[in-house]
Amino acid sequence: MHQLVNRPKSLIGKVDVPGDKSIAHRALILNSLAKGISIVRGLPVGEDVKATELCLKDLGVRIEKVNSSGDLRIYGSEGALRKSLGNLDARNSGTTMRLLSGALASQSFTSVITGDYSLLSRPMDRIIKPLNLMGACVSGAMEDSLPPITIKGGDLHGIEYTLPVASAQVKSCIMLAALRASTPTIIHQPALSRDHTERMLDSMGAKVIRRGFQLEIFPGVLKSFDLSIPGDISAASFWMVAGICHANAQLKINNIGINPGRIGIIEALKSMGANLFLEKQHVEAGEPCADILIESSSLVGVEIGGDLIPRLIDEIPVLAVAACFAKGTTVIKDASELRVKESDRISTIVRELTKMGASIEERSDGMVIHGKGKLEGAEVGSYGDHRLAMALGVAGLVADNDTIIDGSDAVGVSYPQFWDQIDLFTKE
Ligand code: S3P
Repeated sequence: MHQLVNRPKSLIGKVDVPGDKSIAHRALILNSLAKGISIVRGLPVGEDVKATELCLKDLGVRIEKVNSSGDLRIYGSEGALRKSLGNLDARNSGTTMRLLSGALASQSFTSVITGDYSLLSRPMDRIIKPLNLMGACVSGAMEDSLPPITIKGGDLHGIEYTLPVASAQVKSCIMLAALRASTPTIIHQPALSRDHTERMLDSMGAKVIRRGFQLEIFPGVLKSFDLSIPGDISAASFWMVAGICHANAQLKINNIGINPGRIGIIEALKSMGANLFLEKQHVEAGEPCADILIESSSLVGVEIGGDLIPRLIDEIPVLAVAACFAKGTTVIKDASELRVKESDRISTIVRELTKMGASIEERSDGMVIHGKGKLEGAEVGSYGDHRLAMALGVAGLVADNDTIIDGSDAVGVSYPQFWDQIDLFTKE
């Protein structure tokens, strides 16, 4: 499928974004493992979270729709899942594969988790290694580095482990396994990443001690937890950049999660001079939340790297679009993790923005963008990557002339309503 996008005269109004995908995966998985019945509200309708729900159902968890909004009632299994009849399919979702692996490592049966073409090329050694150290027997394709992965659950013991990358998925995988180990587990993180799992475990009665970047997880049974999921800051970031780069914009996005491990995009855009304001800050489901107000802005180029990268890792494609509109040069470095996301996001965004007239150079760990204050509409492709499709959609909203995004259906993974919302502005 393809989508035509062009620049509307104005971008003024309120936008509703889907519920936070990261929190949604965790709400489904942790409540499925807990003792008791929970209700989870505000789930996003994208394919990734659906993949987690279907895998959990395949593992014997009873999950029912409560209403037409898609809110779910989950009957917790008290940690005892049931062997799936076939392979589990995580589809495009790395979070599904990595977090479920942690939960399956202590089960008394063998599971196989597979995924789509993109997921089959994403690194899994980062979870296979620590789970094996804990006593599970986990293997994967290509010398235990790629999916599909086979998890023969076992009696686990705690480990002390230093994460090779600041990955919330790997950290969460180990934390899930640690809940069912015989002794506590210590995780050393190289930098802060999103801490949704830690927060949810706190709310569910687990004992997790944090000492700076170090976590200690104690084995225990979880209590089910009702929650309403706040809006997804990663989805909101597309509107943030659209509003900032459009000359006549004022956008409001209500009730967005502003977890400290996710707000790197807000910090980066503000350091570039963005008119971006947080209002009505409050806490919901153990997560800080706020309304976000965005206005047209004059941006300057900045250098982005180091500890900021894990806190805006998913937003770099759209940040590159903002950098095209900044005065001066933006350098994005220390971001080689981008090469192992749903696509190689360094090379794909550089290639597609070049088609739109950007002055952008690829680096092994990032990119350098010389802002020209404009982009030119072109025919571009998503590589089947939802965030690339949406970043290019934003580029189309602020570029001169028409942009056609091929493979636009990729947005279904996290934000199926995206093009309909864009059309509301462009077809006014
Ligand atoms: C996620 C963590 C990030 C992010 C992904 C979702 C999560 O991955 O890119 O989209 O929900 O934990 P890593 O933690 O592997 O960097």
